Parts: sequence; structure tokens; C-alpha cells
Amino acid sequence: MSGPPPALEHQLAIVTGGASGIGAEIVRALCAQGATVAIIDRDEAALHEVGASLRAAGHRCSEHVFDLARHDAIADLVATIHGQHGRLDILVNCAALVDGGRTLLDIDLDTWDRVHAVNLKAPLVLMQAAARLMIQAGKGGRIVNVTSSSAFRAQFVFPAYGSSKAGLTQLTRSAAADLGPHGINVNCVAPGVTVTPMLQKIVGLKGAQDMAETGPLANLLGRPSQPEDVAQVVVFLCLPASRQITGQTIHTSAGAIV
Ligand SMILES: NC(=O)c1ccc[n+]([C@@H]2O[C@H](COP(=O)([O-])OP(=O)(O)OC[C@H]3O[C@@H](n4cnc5c(N)ncnc54)[C@H](O)[C@@H]3O)[C@@H](O)[C@H]2O)c1
Repeated sequence: MSGPPPALEHQLAIVTGGASGIGAEIVRALCAQGATVAIIDRDEAALHEVGASLRAAGHRCSEHVFDLARHDAIADLVATIHGQHGRLDILVNCAALVDGGRTLLDIDLDTWDRVHAVNLKAPLVLMQAAARLMIQAGKGGRIVNVTSSSAFRAQFVFPAYGSSKAGLTQLTRSAAADLGPHGINVNCVAPGVTVTPMLQKIVGLKGAQDMAETGPLANLLGRPSQPEDVAQVVVFLCLPASRQITGQTIHTSAGAIV
């Protein structure tokens, strides 16, 4: 006996940064709900590995090797994806760069611009391109921006990163206001310390556990998040059950920000 169809069957989602960590888990979770996912990332090898493993599991996806700092080419890329799949229902902006190790006094303007180009300007251009197609189709849509608890507190050595994520939080509110009349919900998911390959490389598993328990990044549950903890909330924000949620930030940082 077959059950009901998956909630996102026939929907097309674009996910940036989907070749690694949280983004790769978002791609898997959307596919598990029946969506077809167009994955954008600049890491060609990792991107094709994620795509191949999804297809091997019977899911539908396409891979797009692209550097999101190329703002002028983003609208064409989104149009190509739309042309390939014939629709666009969901956009998840997850790709990001960090500027770790630099204080307010020593951050240089090139680093500032590079971080904001990928973390703030690219999501703006992607939202514009995606929303235009969603409005044309007249069926509404969902946009989810992955921000960070760094947007909500003082944090050492991440001035550009924190500022870009705070900017994306406010841009999300503006987008929710402008796109609401078109039936497009726009929200943020703000992770705290999350055990991705990148974080493990920097601090190791024990380091991630220590960060969750003590110090400025500690959270109320005393444990770091896993990528799927973030991905499941992103999926929720794409499901019919969340249709009345827009312009909001859902924190997945185990109460690091309260
Ligand atoms: N891991 C954490 O503890 C944590 C905490 C808070 C927020 N976040 C946010 O979650 C998201 C994912 O983080 P992650 O830890 O999985 O990172 P990650 O480094 O594992 O993944 C980021 C992906 O983005 C891609 N990317 C970066 N710059 C790009 C560009 N210019 N063009 C195209 N692709 C590009 C990378 O190739 C990579 O695949 C980010 O937005 C990050 O700010 C992560």
C-alpha cells in the first residue's frame, strides 16, 4: 500500500552552499520530502559527490558549479535552472564565508568586501532573481536565509561575518514585507555552534562540545547542533505547516540566543 505523496513532490528548490556541511544536509532533507534540488556551490568535487550520492539514492538534483561573488551572472544562472526544471518554488541561501582571526582593528577592506559579497549581496541578487520568477508563476514560494547566532551578539574576531549575517537578517524582514503580497514567505534560520566538517577541522569534535558548554558561545542544552538539526527547521519553513510564518528568525542554537 502506498502512503500519501511526499510534501514537496514536484517542487524545485535552489540551495546555495549545498556541497558541504549544513547546506548538504538541507539538500538531503529537501530531497527526502520529494523536492528536486538545484545545488549551487563553487567546490566542484564536493558538489558532484553530493549530487552523485543523491541520485544513487533515487533522488532528483542538478549541480551548478558557480562562484557566488559573480553577482552579474546570478540572474542568468537562476534563469538556466528555471529553464532546465520548468519551475522554481524554494530558494535557500546557505553559502557563506567567514573572516575568523581578525578584530575590528585589523580587518582589511578587501576581506570585508569579500565576506559581504558572498554572505549578503549574493543572497540579495538571488532573492531578486528567484522572486521575479515566483511572481511570474503566480503560485507563491518560500525563501529561507541561513544566518547565524553571530548576528545577535558581540563576538570576537568576526566583524565582517557577524555584520553580514545581521544585514541578511534585516534584508529578510524587508523581503518578507515586499514579497508577502505575492504569497512568498521569507524567513531566516540562525544556527549556533554546529558540527560541520569545517568546524571539526578548526576545533575538532571535543572543541565543538566545549564551545557548547562554556564560554561566550555556550548554549542552554550544553551540546552543539548537528547539520540535520538546522536542515529540519529549514524544511519546516518550506512546508505548508509554516504558511503563516514570514519575516522571522528561527534560532537552532539550543538557546544560545534567548
Ligand atoms: N557551522 C556552524 O557552526 C555555523 C554556525 C552558524 C551559522 N552557520 C552558517 O551555516 C551555513 C553553512 O555553514 P557550514 O558550517 O555548513 O559551512 P561549510 O563551509 O561546510 O559550507 C559552506 C559552503 O558554501 C560554499 N561557498 C562558500 N563561498 C562560496 C561562493 N563564493 N560561491 C559558491 N559557494 C560558496 C562552500 O564551498 C561550502 O560548500 C553558513 O551560512 C554559515 O554561516 C554555520
